Amino acid sequence: MTLDTLKSPAEKIESKRSLGFSDDDSIEITISPNGGACFGVVRAIKLGQQAAAKGKEASAPVYSFGSIVHNPKTIRELEEQGVKTVEDSAQITSGTVILRSHGVRREIEKDFKSRGVQIIDATCPLVKKPQKIAASLGSRGYFLVLVGDANHPEVKGVLSYFGSDNYVVTYKPEDIDKIPSEVTKVGVVAQTTIEVKVLNTIVEQCQKRFSEVAVYNTICDATSVRQEEAEILAKKADVLIVVGGKNSSNTNKLVKICKQYQPATYLIEDIGEIEVGWFDGKKKIGVTGGASTPQEYVDEAGEKIAAMISASLS
Ligand code: F3S
Repeated sequence: MTLDTLKSPAEKIESKRSLGFSDDDSIEITISPNGGACFGVVRAIKLGQQAAAKGKEASAPVYSFGSIVHNPKTIRELEEQGVKTVEDSAQITSGTVILRSHGVRREIEKDFKSRGVQIIDATCPLVKKPQKIAASLGSRGYFLVLVGDANHPEVKGVLSYFGSDNYVVTYKPEDIDKIPSEVTKVGVVAQTTIEVKVLNTIVEQCQKRFSEVAVYNTICDATSVRQEEAEILAKKADVLIVVGGKNSSNTNKLVKICKQYQPATYLIEDIGEIEVGWFDGKKKIGVTGGASTPQEYVDEAGEKIAAMISASLS
């Protein structure tokens, strides 16, 4: 940070939640108002913490099948409290299992039940919605167009509720043309974290081809609100910090959106990764976080940046 960017070298820099910056020449750190964990993630973490406490009391094991949320730091903290993350469901044969916020495949839940494992369902209610719609479309003979990433656990979970092979998972309109010609009615369902414009493009393509198209916009607002705010901030900021798991799809989408408008965008999982050199000569600093990033991590990042800049100026 160069001293001439400030009126007073000793000026204390603070971070605040807002969606803009003032027009003057001061250094400002603005945190996106909704940057940070969505209600589904907050709920899942709370359920994990409660399960850990109960497990400790009863001296019974507590597992999470896959990461409860896509944030490695949160997973480490939960592990310290007693929640063991296990990727192979067969390894969980007793105690309690927490089902992650993105949901799990139906048959896996059934297996846990058959083995007498107690289930704490931390599946986000907004992920339950596409699961239920997929089950209903399957029972009514629809061809399912699931707009999303075939490798994402949420998508695999939703498909397991559909119950037949009459589906395609895609976000490319050209894949709609490959749907077998005998199909007449399709149901379009979205992965909760995809961009609205991707869903709209697929819906348009379906409407060109099929006489009956049932559309279910199951995109979660939490994601789109964070994406819209990130875009506004990125257009105004000199540098952007996105806080979140490097394995989190919604966090990576935020980074992608921010980079379109502000190439000086950095993704951090932990505040220890922040480098003071990123802010050299910058005055408008934006901070946001993915929907899987606990609020306090985003606030901590704002405070750390403020402290680093203040220290570099004194
Ligand atoms: Fe749920 Fe939306 Fe969060 S689906 S887990 S509230 S991003």
